[in-house]
Amino acid sequence: MLMAGKTALVTGAANGIGEGIARLFVNEGARVWLLDKEPKKLELVAGELRKQGASVEMRVADLSRTEEVESAINGLFRQTGALDVLVNNAGIDPRQPFLEMKEEQWSEVLNVNLNGAYRCTRLAAPYFVQQRAGKVINISSVTFYWGMKYLAHYVASKGALIGFTRALARELGEFNIHVNCITPGAIQTERESQTVTPEQAGEVVALQSLRRRILPLDIARVCVFLATELSDGVTGQTVNVDGGWIMH
Ligand SMILES: NC(=O)c1ccc[n+]([C@@H]2O[C@H](COP(=O)([O-])OP(=O)(O)OC[C@H]3O[C@@H](n4cnc5c(N)ncnc54)[C@H](O)[C@@H]3O)[C@@H](O)[C@H]2O)c1
Repeated sequence: MLMAGKTALVTGAANGIGEGIARLFVNEGARVWLLDKEPKKLELVAGELRKQGASVEMRVADLSRTEEVESAINGLFRQTGALDVLVNNAGIDPRQPFLEMKEEQWSEVLNVNLNGAYRCTRLAAPYFVQQRAGKVINISSVTFYWGMKYLAHYVASKGALIGFTRALARELGEFNIHVNCITPGAIQTERESQTVTPEQAGEVVALQSLRRRILPLDIARVCVFLATELSDGVTGQTVNVDGGWIMH
């Protein structure tokens, strides 16, 4: 029970990596706040966790809309009054050749992936300052290290998250606020299975040092490390969790 007594907010918690993080946090004794824009799946996940006896709050909000994020997170603070961990996980990666990319498409990805993390962190940071403790975990991507075609907007947003992590860690360290980042590799999720064939997934595994699929649980385990006192001496860092694909 590494997270007993802690409260954690996970964005993008209705699916994939965010869902995996929320599930492991609950298994480790945390109270969780789940935020996502997909109400049906979010209710399903929240319901399952509550059946396990977990303390779960959920809010439906679109991270690209400031008012929705403010209303969701301020409402959670009013209701429960405590937060220890913020995981900025939600993200989108619509593939688009750069030469055909419209400015709205570029902006939409930056608005969710980068500005969404900014919005949540901006709301949580004053509480963390007040309590002289807080752990922020940003979910970036391994694609930042090697670039990826048709994802210029996404890769730019994920690199910016690493910059955001470093600058914020530098600025908020004096308040005992830790800010770290994870770059997942190719993670086996439900959504991935809709866009990537088993053969394509196998090609990535062949490039990894560890010859197995990397799972949401692998990311969640590193989140537990970064969310607890296990990482009290660590801030401003980015941990690559890709099975030894890119050695950075
Ligand atoms: N899956 C991978 O292989 C992989 C690799 C590297 C990085 N990542 C990053 O990990 C994070 C999670 O990815 P995933 O694969 O679990 O994705 P996913 O699509 O399975 O889940 C993302 C969740 O975020 C939510 N979301 C999207 N836009 C939102 C918005 N505007 N407001 C609120 N919620 C929103 C979705 O509804 C969904 O539940 C993303 O930031 C992604 O870029 C994933």
